[in-house]
Amino acid sequence: MAYSEPYDALDEKTRDISRAITSLREELEAIDWYNQRVSTTQDQELKDVMAHNRDEEIEHAVMAFEWLRRNMEGFDEDMRTYLFSEGSLLEVEDKATAAVAPKGPASTMTIGNLKN
Ligand SMILES: [Fe+2]
Repeated sequence: MAYSEPYDALDEKTRDISRAITSLREELEAIDWYNQRVSTTQDQELKDVMAHNRDEEIEHAVMAFEWLRRNMEGFDEDMRTYLFSEGSLLEVEDKATAAVAPKGPASTMTIGNLKN
C-alpha cells in the first residue's frame, strides 16, 4: 500500500479509507484483466471460468464502493445523484447543480441541497 503522506500523520479512519480505495483499485484492475482474457481466449471452458472470476471481482468492487459510501464523505451524495440515473450524465449533473444553486438573480439566500 502506498501513501502520499507520512503514515504516522494519518488517522486510523484515513488509513481505512486508503485500504478500501487500494482494494477497489485492485478489484477494478482484476475486472479489466479478466475481461480482456474472456475476450481473447479461444478455449470456451477457460472463457467461462474467467467470466465467472470477473463477475466475482465486480461483486468485490461494488462491496468496496458501498463501504466507501458509508464511510467517506462525498460518495453517498454523488452516488445518489448519478447511480441508476438515466440519460445524459452531464444533464444529471446540470439538474443536481441547479437544485443546489438555482440560476437567476444573485441572492444571499440558499435553499440547501435538494438532492436528498
Ligand atoms: Fe476480488
